[in-house]
Amino acid sequence: MERTPRHIRILTAAALWISPLLSQTIPLTWDSAALATALLPPPVAGAKIQHVSSDYYYRMRDRVMYRRYPVYAAKSEPAGYMQKLAATEPEVTFDATKLQTEQAWVKAGREVFRYPIAMIPIQALPAFRSILESAGVPPAKDGTYPQLTLVVPKKGQVMLGFLACATCHTRIQPDGAVIEGAQGTIPDLLLGFGNDTATARAFAKGLFRVPWLASDPISRVDTMTLEQINAIKAAVPTGVVGRHGTSLFSPVQIPDLIGIKDRRYLDHTGQVRHRDMGDLMRYAALNNATPPAGMDLLANVGGFIPAGNMNGKSDNALPPAESLDRYSEVQLFALGKFLYSLTPPPNPNQASPLTKQGEAVFQQQGCGRCHTPPLYTSNKLTPAVGYKVPEADRKIYDIEPTVVGTDPTLTMTTRRGTGYYKVPSLRGVWYRGPFEHNGSVATLEDWFNPKRLSPEYVPTGWKGDGVEKRAVQGHPFGLGITAAEKTALIAFLKTL
Ligand code: HEC
Ligand code: HEC
Repeated sequence: MERTPRHIRILTAAALWISPLLSQTIPLTWDSAALATALLPPPVAGAKIQHVSSDYYYRMRDRVMYRRYPVYAAKSEPAGYMQKLAATEPEVTFDATKLQTEQAWVKAGREVFRYPIAMIPIQALPAFRSILESAGVPPAKDGTYPQLTLVVPKKGQVMLGFLACATCHTRIQPDGAVIEGAQGTIPDLLLGFGNDTATARAFAKGLFRVPWLASDPISRVDTMTLEQINAIKAAVPTGVVGRHGTSLFSPVQIPDLIGIKDRRYLDHTGQVRHRDMGDLMRYAALNNATPPAGMDLLANVGGFIPAGNMNGKSDNALPPAESLDRYSEVQLFALGKFLYSLTPPPNPNQASPLTKQGEAVFQQQGCGRCHTPPLYTSNKLTPAVGYKVPEADRKIYDIEPTVVGTDPTLTMTTRRGTGYYKVPSLRGVWYRGPFEHNGSVATLEDWFNPKRLSPEYVPTGWKGDGVEKRAVQGHPFGLGITAAEKTALIAFLKTL
């Protein structure tokens, strides 16, 4: 049964009158066939992730978005701010009928990007602020924390909004400059698992369980206390998080979304293809909807439905669709337009004789084979250590034959796994870090330090799973160059 037209045409009377160009053809997000071909399967024979039907998806309610208000650092909050908000009437902000220019679409999409999908009682705010402070995340120059937001869904009810795209994809530089869309500065501890051990264990298993593994690493939480689980999370550097489907024991670098329009695979493992805007909308739906964290959690993962196994429940039944909300088609389309519109901040690192030398090193070392200009990625997947590429994959995906040799844990043993790591773009390395899929090294200097291959190495980014030292293995490129060449290479990379 087809409940939704294949394309929803938004043709406002005014737009038609002014110009037919303002009409928009919106791709259908939950198109089961498009979804099936967008997703790469797990790297284990027989393992399957079955997403909810189109019928279920479209029975979920469209999300209503209310006006947002900033969260200030404690010392910057204006006097009487909360009392004023408590007396404010709720106001619905997202209005599809007003989207008549490209600019209006992008602006509306930014609002979707900033709109939180989780609402927490305001009493949690001091704890949230203190986690940000202890992790060394500065507020923005205007005294706010753009990762958080306040919403008034009902008069007298001020809620702390959380888990917007902006929560993880907004970077606050040490001087308070905000780079929207860049690798976010969010402490993993802020994505907390609750206040007691039982809740923390259930959450960790819902987010990270991998049913097809004979011995699932996440079972370890059954013998861990809340404090032990939180200690692991507190040790994750900002810019890296245990996103659902990765692992508490193998968190992942938050990617830079600036330039996303040109990337053909999404996620470090390339789990979602990016053939067009429809795929980006599917990605957003998979990753962010209620229950917080997206359709991924409502999927049947080898007989296990993550959402049914969190929040103190333990069953594999789907909640009634009508009890949940998700982004509307128009919201997702606007979000996509906003993401496509992101541009990097002006780069202070200009070309110089040193960067020219660095570019020559880049060429001599053959970096461009994978990090091909002008995107500085070939947009290809590389097989992980131990993955035997199925012959059929070579016809469907763009595969670079070289095994780069980084830690295969994330792509071989998590729900986001595919057996591959994609070649990341090197654009914007000057304003972001830590690097590598786990964020194992803090800087480019460390990435090109051959000592990182030694088991005695102490990683400068994410330390590793309960170890004091470990090799940050693989990606041997550029490790054999002289100190002068390294300086030049890094200077060049910082101009990209
Ligand atoms: C809890 C933090 C968090 C939130 C909230 C979040 N993301 Fe992400 N996002 C991540 C992480 C971490 C990854 C990398 C995952 C991986 O590689 O396995 C990612 C990956 C992505 C990618 C793939 C980028 C690439 O180059 O591979 C896109 C696109 C994206 N997110 C968009 C969004 C959008 C849109 C939203 C809101 C609807 C959102 N994210 C919400 C943390 C988050
Ligand atoms: C055979 C393909 C290939 C070649 C050649 C190659 N790279 Fe990479 N590069 C990759 C892949 C794949 C990754 C991601 C690995 C991971 O995260 O597990 C990567 C990661 C990186 C990163 C980290 C980016 C980030 O955002 O975390 C940098 C920087 C980098 N490469 C620079 C270089 C330079 C400079 C050279 C040449 C000296 C080079 N690469 C050669 C495939 C390659």
